[in-house]
Amino acid sequence: MVAARITVNGKEAPISPAAPHTTALDFLRERGLTGTKEGCAEGECGACSVLVARPGVNKPTDWVAVNACLVPAAALDGQEIITSEGLATPGEPGTPPTLHPVQEEMAVRGGSQCGYCTPGFICSMAAEYYRPDRCTHTNSDSADGSEAAGTADSEHGPNGFDLHALSGNLCRCTGYRPIRDAAFAVGTPTDEDLLAQRREQSPPAPVATQYTQGDRSFLRPSTLEEVLRLLRERPDAVVVAGSTDWGVEVNIRSRRESCVVAIDRLTELRELRVESDHIEIGAALTLTEIERRLNGEVPLLAQLFPQFASRLIRNGATLGGNLGTGSPIGDSPPALLALEASVILADADGEREVPLADYFTGYRQSVRRPGELIRAVRVPLPLSPVVGFHKIAKRRFDDISSVAAAFALDIENGIVRKARIGLGGVAATPIRSLATEAALEGKPWATETVEAAARVLRGEGTPMSDHRASSLYRSAMLGQSLLKLYAQTTEAVSS
Ligand code: FES
Ligand code: FES
Repeated sequence: MVAARITVNGKEAPISPAAPHTTALDFLRERGLTGTKEGCAEGECGACSVLVARPGVNKPTDWVAVNACLVPAAALDGQEIITSEGLATPGEPGTPPTLHPVQEEMAVRGGSQCGYCTPGFICSMAAEYYRPDRCTHTNSDSADGSEAAGTADSEHGPNGFDLHALSGNLCRCTGYRPIRDAAFAVGTPTDEDLLAQRREQSPPAPVATQYTQGDRSFLRPSTLEEVLRLLRERPDAVVVAGSTDWGVEVNIRSRRESCVVAIDRLTELRELRVESDHIEIGAALTLTEIERRLNGEVPLLAQLFPQFASRLIRNGATLGGNLGTGSPIGDSPPALLALEASVILADADGEREVPLADYFTGYRQSVRRPGELIRAVRVPLPLSPVVGFHKIAKRRFDDISSVAAAFALDIENGIVRKARIGLGGVAATPIRSLATEAALEGKPWATETVEAAARVLRGEGTPMSDHRASSLYRSAMLGQSLLKLYAQTTEAVSS
């Protein structure tokens, strides 16, 4: 077996002697690549952002920005990454390098002050710079003759730059306007741009990794069958995909495992299939991949994704991971419950399908047995047309919900034929709001019905008081979310 190594800024670097749990951030800094910074070590500041060559959605390869503080270096065995140091073009001996276009714009528009956050912003910005479907065209009406387009809105620049690309990057001194100015000023990559050219080739193939140091191992089997066999032998093994949850445990709680099994590159877990009666979403597809591949086809999920953490996290996080942790405040369960989704659980003996409504059994507990893995999430078709995902949190983006409610309603001739409501943050597990569903079904979609159902919804679950919100606030927000859905959708419902 070839020794584990990563291609960093075009040069191969052996991972050894790093420990199996060593993050890519520490690995890079140990090698002198100190542009990659540690701010929070838990995926919330983006100072550690780096680019990874991953399978693309519109081209063979996408440059994807991820939090290096969460990903173990061993998980990048055989992969290619670019750090902020690798973006500029080196000059001749004695001459300075030529800045990358995003570095240039950040410099000339005053997007950096103390500079601590800057390399992370640069990497996130570069990933968006290279996004193949970022649209740019010239608007001849533009006052200064610069590139502009009809696509600009509060979250997109005239160059198509999606500000959500920076939703995982924090800056504590510059202020965001100059950074946004820089993002909205970048053009399109030239034909000579080597990273743009790299997108036309396949990304590095996943390699089977057996990285062991002392009594600890990081393993990446090649097939689902091998993983399931391994999990049978080692039920104590921790299964990771994007490591967005486990990475925090490693950094903040010093968790160390004797055996970690990576499943994020398994082909069997990375399929997205639209069948006549359901959509099957592989458990190891990242949320960004699902979002881009579905392209709005499941409107409730399209509402969920921008509210799920940050782009940096969505580039690593998976539905399998979000359901696997069993958190009562995970963002995806309320939406998936409203969609009546089920999970496909696989072990060495075969598969079983479990409705998500029956999956959670207690705080961070589920029916998933030792040795079982979530292979896919299945969403039945047809979809209910009236949907809403309301996440109540202190910040609009990149926050943990105080409470979340997802709605999926069938309304025909003004009557609610079917109502499915998923709630998060109101009990030890995500729950279906059965009493409220019953209060709506068969009734007119009208103010009187909705107000009565909102009163029922306020009484669902057993919300607690904690540092995020009081139980009274949580209950009140549940009722408000149904009233908000009514206000949002009344005009859209055919009578
Ligand atoms: Fe803050 Fe990685 S160090 S997100
Ligand atoms: Fe200082 Fe952003 S420039 S934190």
